[in-house]
Amino acid sequence: MNILILGGGGREHALAWATLQNPKCDRLIVAPGNAGIAAIAECAALDIEDRSAVASFVEEESIDFVIVGPEAPLAAGVADRLRESGILVFGPNQAAAQLEASKAFTKEVCDAAKAPTAAWARFTDAAAAKAYVAEKGAPIVVKADGLAAGKGVVVAETEAQALDALDDMFGGSFGAAGAEVVIEEFMTGEEASFFVLCDGEDALPMGTAQDHKRVGEGDTGPNTGGMGAYSPAPVLTDDVAARTMDEIVRPVLAEMERRGTPYQGVLYVGLMIENGAPRLVEFNVRFGDPECQVIMMRLGAQALDAMHAAADGRLAEMRINWADDHAMTVVMAADGYPGSYEKGSEIKGLDSLRADSKNMVFHAGTTAKGGAVLATGGRVLNVTARGDTLTDAATRAYAMVDQIDWPGGFFRRDIGWRALK
Ligand code: AMP
Ligand code: GLY
Repeated sequence: MNILILGGGGREHALAWATLQNPKCDRLIVAPGNAGIAAIAECAALDIEDRSAVASFVEEESIDFVIVGPEAPLAAGVADRLRESGILVFGPNQAAAQLEASKAFTKEVCDAAKAPTAAWARFTDAAAAKAYVAEKGAPIVVKADGLAAGKGVVVAETEAQALDALDDMFGGSFGAAGAEVVIEEFMTGEEASFFVLCDGEDALPMGTAQDHKRVGEGDTGPNTGGMGAYSPAPVLTDDVAARTMDEIVRPVLAEMERRGTPYQGVLYVGLMIENGAPRLVEFNVRFGDPECQVIMMRLGAQALDAMHAAADGRLAEMRINWADDHAMTVVMAADGYPGSYEKGSEIKGLDSLRADSKNMVFHAGTTAKGGAVLATGGRVLNVTARGDTLTDAATRAYAMVDQIDWPGGFFRRDIGWRALK
């Protein structure tokens, strides 16, 4: 099989790494890729949100299977265009990608499916939204409806914060994404992510993870895209997973099918779990980043078979063999992240690290220049390890982190603290 992976972050490095372990992969191209991906696969410059450009590339390179990493190409309809050409693609069509691209859409689908989630209301008018906040009180959660690169959510502890967030969003800080605002009940509990493969009809759980969204140790400070993750998530017990499938995933998939927009790809189910009861925080239409890195580390070569079965409508016959193992990834980020940061600082010490089925450094934002690896993003490296216990995985991951010589970067020392406690 000739395979194309779209994207160029740590998630796509992990997807490429797992795909290459499967003998069914004859040739792998990643577009645009990064310095870490270039060490294991061909990389190609391509505008991955341009439907026609992607379709032409796929034809020219005789690609049989396309795996879409990030949400932007899905929201732009790249999967639709490829399916029109008869190409097998992992990732939902544009209409189904609304489950991530519009928070109000997701809430409507949940209501129709009777899936448990926070009470909510939608507004296009600031005065009405403010009146709603005054009526409900704080804490309360204010969200820009559209894609805002993970920044469009404000968990307001006071009414004043909620009103400020509304001024911001209706004032245009998030562009079109903030023209409509969703206001939600604040939910308490422990958060975890559940990954489910979907082929339009059947659904197959693909693992659980927890990530650390705050930049600082002890889960403090501003939100980020994720500073580290581990799998499995202890709070997502078999019982919680079964309830999530019965109460949220299957009813939502049935509702999507009823609407004529069946969902194919991976559904990232972000949950708030309290007293064993799961409620939906959000869906994403792609793997989490960095959660994907720990899931791929645990699945290895099986990941390609599972994604291919999802794209091909064969999930009913697919089985995943889980080892009784644990994985952790520690994100190394550029000083200043998630605020402004410098690009171009050099990272040393990567060459001497082990790279095998238990130890991998996935690159998220790097470029190669001369013989050097330079940081080009906010989140730059995902130092990932697998072990028989989470403690074992953490020890391996931090042993690698400690060998990396990058004065321009930082990381959290406490990834997994809740589970390790
Ligand atoms: P989202 O982008 O929807 O995942 O929101 C980002 C983060 O905000 C989530 O991971 C939660 O920590 C928090 N959050 C979002 N919605 C709620 C809610 N209704 N109640 C409590 N926390 C929330
Ligand atoms: N790590 C959170 C996300 O990928 O949305």
